[in-house]
Amino acid sequence: MTDLAPKRIVLGVTGASGSIYGARLLRHLRSLGTETHLVASQTAEKVCRFEGHPLPGNVEAGSDGLAGSVVRHDEANFFAAPASGSFRHGGMVIAPCSVGTVGRIAAGTADTLLLRAADVCLKERRPLIVLLRETPLSRIHLKNLLEITEAGAVVVPASPGFYNKPTSIDDLVDGVLARVLDLLGLPSEIAPRWKDQD
Ligand SMILES: Cc1cc2nc3c(=O)[nH]c(=O)nc-3n(C[C@H](O)[C@H](O)[C@H](O)COP(=O)(O)O)c2cc1C
Repeated sequence: MTDLAPKRIVLGVTGASGSIYGARLLRHLRSLGTETHLVASQTAEKVCRFEGHPLPGNVEAGSDGLAGSVVRHDEANFFAAPASGSFRHGGMVIAPCSVGTVGRIAAGTADTLLLRAADVCLKERRPLIVLLRETPLSRIHLKNLLEITEAGAVVVPASPGFYNKPTSIDDLVDGVLARVLDLLGLPSEIAPRWKDQD
């Protein structure tokens, strides 16, 4: 994470399945006292509701026992702070991320706030973490993933490990999110860390 604004993160949510990744990440970020700038695609709104994880609006710090706040942005609002490179933050995570959004980032369309905020991260050399949810992957998907990786994004597939012997969906999700928080440089212990085995 950059040292510019370590407690401010941009969270993008798209219409891929796996809205629980976005919901739990938001919770973890708020537990860490982060000011999270949340922007969702139109389809994300519907998929999140369908999967049982409706997106919040603005939330004040401490209002529900969690230290961090949520600043909700409309995806059509290019006047919002994350649209500008001069807005300092510690990185952006897109969780879950659809292959459609990956393609639009790769093409540099920047035609929604979410896409513009991702584009800004790449041009400013800030962390952009893409938690991809799709399977199987076509040649087009793989080419787009290579394109954004070469531009500086880190692709984190929604592909949980099993070596920590997860016993719940939350465990599986947190196993992936622990890698995301590490990539942001945030001090979190939401999943066991591997150590020497006897
Ligand atoms: C219930 C549901 C689940 C979906 N799951 C995925 C998925 O896992 N991955 C994906 O890339 N697209 C998925 N889609 C399709 C995307 O929502 C669609 O391509 C959309 O245009 C993505 O736009 P967005 O990235 O701007 O949200 C799903 C759609 C629905 C309705």
